[in-house]
Amino acid sequence: MHGERGRALSMRIVGFWILTLSITVLADFKIKGYPEPCNAPGPQGIQGPPGPRGKPGETGTMGLPGLPGPRGVPGVIVTCPTPPKSAFAVRLNEPLPNPFQPIAFKEALYNHHNHFNLTTGMFSCTNPGVYSFGFDIGLFQQTVKISFMRNGIQVREKQAQAKDSYKHVSGMVIMQLEKGDKVWLESKLNEEESKEGTIETMFFGYLVCGK
Ligand SMILES: *[C@@H]1O[C@H](CO)[C@@H](O)[C@H](O)[C@H]1NC(C)=O
Repeated sequence: MHGERGRALSMRIVGFWILTLSITVLADFKIKGYPEPCNAPGPQGIQGPPGPRGKPGETGTMGLPGLPGPRGVPGVIVTCPTPPKSAFAVRLNEPLPNPFQPIAFKEALYNHHNHFNLTTGMFSCTNPGVYSFGFDIGLFQQTVKISFMRNGIQVREKQAQAKDSYKHVSGMVIMQLEKGDKVWLESKLNEEESKEGTIETMFFGYLVCGK
């Protein structure tokens, strides 16, 4: 009986031992898990240094034009003084009128500023300055003696006689005039002496520079 019991006991012990072992193996199995494959990735390494700079990219398309800028401030208005102007040219296509008085011209070739009075035959200075005056007389079968006058004083005299030919008389004067000064031409011959033939008288003048 003792042997029987002993055997049974030893069997139990063995059984217990097997059980304990298996639990241990199981526990061991649980802790360790499956063995990992040998080519599995390791932990992430340290980041390497940055690579060389890449090539620049293609130029982009042009952008849209910008909005117009704000309006600028108005500039300074400078009014330029208009230079004084004065000019005339008159003509008379007939024998000279009475002597010793201003020759009244019939035709104004240019008298834009109206400084020459056709009725009186006088040029009145409105813009003081240096003036250039001239006269030009063509005559045929005529005698002429003409004076350029300034405020009643003779400045220049010219004369010519054309019998059966054509003659030319001209003169020029440059002078300073003050405002209100008057210049004109006048004949110094009596009418009787110049009834025949033809005569054309031109008188002109202009302001060279105002003062
Ligand atoms: C010309 O002079 C006359 C006489 O002084 C005057 O009556 C006339 O108004 C003057 N003409 C001009 C255009 O100034």
